[in-house]
Amino acid sequence: MTDWIIKNAAELATPQGNKAVFGKQMNDLKVIPDGAVVIEKGTIKAVGTTKEITKHFDESQYSIIDATGKCVVPGFVDSHTHFLFGGYRPDEFFMRLNGKSYMEIMEAGGGIQNTVNATRQSSFDTLFQSGMRRLDSMLSFGITTVEGKSGYGLDLENEIKQLKVMKRLNEEHPVDVVSTFLGAHAVPTEFDGRSSDYIDFIISDVLPQVVEENLAEFCDVFCEKGVISIDLSRRLLLAAKEMGLRIKIHADEIERLGGAELAAELRAASADHLLEVSDEGIRQLSEKKVIATLLPATAFCLNKRYAAGRQMIDQGCAVALASDYNPGSCFTDSVPLLLALACINMKMSAEEALTALTLNGAAALCRADRIGSIEEGKAADLVILKYPSYKYLVYNTAVNIVDQVIKNGELITP
Ligand code: NIG
Ligand code: FE
Repeated sequence: MTDWIIKNAAELATPQGNKAVFGKQMNDLKVIPDGAVVIEKGTIKAVGTTKEITKHFDESQYSIIDATGKCVVPGFVDSHTHFLFGGYRPDEFFMRLNGKSYMEIMEAGGGIQNTVNATRQSSFDTLFQSGMRRLDSMLSFGITTVEGKSGYGLDLENEIKQLKVMKRLNEEHPVDVVSTFLGAHAVPTEFDGRSSDYIDFIISDVLPQVVEENLAEFCDVFCEKGVISIDLSRRLLLAAKEMGLRIKIHADEIERLGGAELAAELRAASADHLLEVSDEGIRQLSEKKVIATLLPATAFCLNKRYAAGRQMIDQGCAVALASDYNPGSCFTDSVPLLLALACINMKMSAEEALTALTLNGAAALCRADRIGSIEEGKAADLVILKYPSYKYLVYNTAVNIVDQVIKNGELITP
């Protein structure tokens, strides 16, 4: 394994610490002009100015990366995706443009069930191959850790299949894949009108196997009017918690149901989407230190109003940004698009957006002690940008400016 010194970086920019950053402190990036990083055995050994680092470390013992004119930032953590699926749904995209809503399409048998049918028909190998390609694409955008959800099987066999494919992808691909069990993504046609029975089935038949085979770290639920109610979400998540999983909630995406309040009550790791969250919901997320994971590319693709990111940060929340990459509501893994939307439409600063996509994303995956910032002892997951400042991530609007990616100390040139 190669040991590296990255030096002469126009700027090294990183949030700091081993836990989520809340409220106004999301602006407090550490910015080191003429920055340098020492990497040994896949881990960050030292961070400082080039002058300091080259004084204390013998350059002849390292491979050197000259980052003149470039900026070094932490590897991006995409903490909410549904990237593993069979089939695509282009027709639904255009139905929406012609006035049909996401929920109308779902209620008419399309939407998630459409992808469930295709995913059930996809072999392990087909899903694995498409998963590898999608992870390559994410890596090219600077993503070094991604969360992936099941939820396109909605039966025992196919939920387990999806989770096993993600486990294998985690082993085979440089990007780290963190798995979330989302068996409660929709009520499958077999359980039509019997959502309570479906949740009972997940709790009695699916969750135990997920836990026994160690196939997921988190349990999530699409808590939404017409999908899974607050009471059923609570029942499922309490059971998942009891079985040792951490929890997440698709909360207040389309209707204001109180998903954020439920996330606070259950001390979820994160509440995600939050387009329609109430002021009280925001207050509770802040008070109970539940990460607010915002997915502005979904609001963009569904042409809905954006989550109140500015208000959440002003009220002390820790905001994370993620893609929500999926074949229905948001078929894009574009990091530059999501950063632009966060700053332009949710009024976040470039500093807050970078913190949200790195350290707070890591915290939403309970990994802030290992990844998410450029600090001694953390994994050497780094992105080198083609421009001299992290500000270009937003300013060079919707353009991928990633030059090189380092994952666990391995140099990967996209
Ligand atoms: O986060 N809202 C529910 N789940 C996904 C969409 C999944 C799909 O449409 O396939 C989301 O937007
Ligand atoms: Fe989602």
